[in-house]
Amino acid sequence: MDTAIQIQELIPDLTERFSSLTIPEAIAFLSAEFPGRVALSTSFSIEDQVITHDILSNDLPVTIFTLDTGRLFAETYSVWSSTNEKYNTRIKAYYPDRGLLEKYLNEKGPNAFYESLANRKGCCHIRKVEPLRRALKGHAVWITGLRAEHSPERQDLPLLEWDDSNKVIKYNPLLQWTTAEVRDYIDRHNIPYNVLHDRGFVSIGCAPCTRAIRPGEDFRAGRWWWEDTSKKECGLHVK
Ligand code: ADX
Ligand code: SF4
Repeated sequence: MDTAIQIQELIPDLTERFSSLTIPEAIAFLSAEFPGRVALSTSFSIEDQVITHDILSNDLPVTIFTLDTGRLFAETYSVWSSTNEKYNTRIKAYYPDRGLLEKYLNEKGPNAFYESLANRKGCCHIRKVEPLRRALKGHAVWITGLRAEHSPERQDLPLLEWDDSNKVIKYNPLLQWTTAEVRDYIDRHNIPYNVLHDRGFVSIGCAPCTRAIRPGEDFRAGRWWWEDTSKKECGLHVK
């Protein structure tokens, strides 16, 4: 198996190669290069649904997994279920570590994330970051639905980058897509999507930490809305 350094060194070559490939072609290339070691993380966002469609309708050998925090919207479980059905698949689920979660809940209570940034980050760590670490273990490539339009911090992301926390190449194929392009692709291919998008929800995470946004508000204004804008990341995507 390649070492982390060997994998990391491929990034410039892959970046150049991918400039002339479609997304399914690029993912096919990655899965041939790293058999059984390419994974997509999905929160069932419209972006993740586009990539899921590309993978499953082209039979690409990629693991698709979700981090079920236990606090997702009922509507999110519906998209998960309709995606399983439409593509005759089973999106793989990762759950929080039971011991860590029970300890946190017994010490702090079920809604402690509203009380302090430390509690909120602690909850995100147990429900998302630690399960992500397990999900990516042994993989070489992590595909995400990150887009530059999401936030100022995401504007400077590269198409491919090294994720040192998880020791994988992170591939963000929709980085330069606009919201209109994503919606259009979903409509054209009749891809299941979260109905909350039709009710003012733009970026969707856990139910207690996501609200709809008003016209003119930022893309991520509905996430952890009680917090300072500069702190609004859950720790999955760290530099
Ligand atoms: S977050 O860091 O604020 O939660 P965001 O919701 O914008 O991230 O999603 C960006 C990408 O992170 C998604 O396209 C997906 O690849 C990954 N992601 C976010 N939440 C989850 C989740 N619960 N399960 C799996 N992947 C997720
Ligand atoms: Fe916990 Fe909210 Fe983070 Fe979900 S988004 S893991 S409920 S703090």
